[in-house]
Amino acid sequence: MVIKNIDTKTVVAKFAVNGYNVHPDAVRLIISSSFDVDVLVRETCAKCNGAFIVTPEEVSEVIKELQSRMRGEEINPVNIRRTAERREEIRVLKDVTGRSACRGTVEDFVAYFNSRFEKLSRILRNRVKAIPVASISKIKAETVEIIGFVNSVRELNENRAMIEVEDRTGRVRVYAEGKIKEQAMELFGDEVIGITGRIAGRSIIADRIVFPDIPLNGNGKVRRDFSIVFISDIHFGSNTFLHESWKKFVSWINCESGNRKLDEIAESVKYLFVAGDVVDGIGVYPNQEKELEIDDINAQYEFAAEQFDRIRKDLKIILSPGNHDAVRQAEPQPALPKEFSSLFSSNVIHVGNPSYIDVEGVKVLMYHGRSLDDIISRVSRLSYEKPHDAMVELLKRRHLAPLYGERSPIAPEKDDYLVVDDVPDIVHSGHVHTYGTGFYRGVFLVNSSTWQSQTEFQKKVNLNPMPGNVAIYQPGGNVYRLKFYS
Ligand SMILES: [Fe+2]
Repeated sequence: MVIKNIDTKTVVAKFAVNGYNVHPDAVRLIISSSFDVDVLVRETCAKCNGAFIVTPEEVSEVIKELQSRMRGEEINPVNIRRTAERREEIRVLKDVTGRSACRGTVEDFVAYFNSRFEKLSRILRNRVKAIPVASISKIKAETVEIIGFVNSVRELNENRAMIEVEDRTGRVRVYAEGKIKEQAMELFGDEVIGITGRIAGRSIIADRIVFPDIPLNGNGKVRRDFSIVFISDIHFGSNTFLHESWKKFVSWINCESGNRKLDEIAESVKYLFVAGDVVDGIGVYPNQEKELEIDDINAQYEFAAEQFDRIRKDLKIILSPGNHDAVRQAEPQPALPKEFSSLFSSNVIHVGNPSYIDVEGVKVLMYHGRSLDDIISRVSRLSYEKPHDAMVELLKRRHLAPLYGERSPIAPEKDDYLVVDDVPDIVHSGHVHTYGTGFYRGVFLVNSSTWQSQTEFQKKVNLNPMPGNVAIYQPGGNVYRLKFYS
């Protein structure tokens, strides 16, 4: 144990030099920790990345990370199972697996929304000098900046809409006109935004709506000499599962397509990401049993594991669940339970939904994509034909399920795992069974289609899938699209 001769003022001063305020409990944690104070301050500042105030939670996370580093371990329990070689290549940066603590109580929901508000408003505070909503009527300024949850949006006439914005101190009516009205009509509610505008009595006339958004160019393009393949929504066990297309895919990825160019692309692939709906599941929608080829969940996962076992073993497969898989429906979802994950070969790494995974310095955010249904049905310019455009809205809002209470159930964890706090290099989604790729501010977006043809249920809801489309991306380089179904 290191005996530290350091007081509160010194710790506060060290943070102030770096431009940070610090919570008193965070200071106490630093003083009582056995780590060197300068190391703790440096690591915490790096982690906070522009935050307004350093919280005790951030300090204790840094302490845990330092302890893990001292033990030579990775942070996530999933990593402990890995070989030394893998540990260097793949790191699970964030995942709810083994960390869920919510019971769905009112207190849990309060803590969840506090976490959402705190994380998103922290991002916004870099660009918006917000004052509390309750003080608007008391200040003697003409202009004002606020940050708050969107409570509701109402169209007043062709040129005007009213947004009700709420922060911890109160609510205010914000009027949006012209182009800003168009932006306002695409607000979902429950997202956190900034507003700059003019004070008009107890209301605000908006000049600008500020989204948390990601910085231009994201993290910049990271160039690597390997490729990553993205698939999702395989639905093993469904009677519409496309056996032949899947077989062709497995032959290709094993470099056995017989086509030199295609085999060369396959040889460059080191990682395969699978964004959920590995199996079709049981009882997921009405009368699903009539559309199953395998009507037992264990047998579905046994078949899935057997199929993945046919893929070459030097490939690392990172697999997360979706709403058809045998884990809780509410997001964030933990990785598949051991009874199913243990069926898969050792090159398959099971993670939760969503999860952040670092592969050789490339940060991939994998999210099944259930909220895309909500976003596409809410915003008229978006469509299932271009799912990557809907994914842009997630990055703009820095949240994977910005609409609360719609089709995406949320588990109220104390830490909102659905906030996009770190800017990824790649975002991978599925769920909507269509295919689309694109770049947004330097981040590669991919929605990775399906391995199931149209189901009766999808016919009824007018969903036209694009099965068997596979995206291959060399970070910083080419994007290829291969079609295994015609
Ligand atoms: Fe699916």
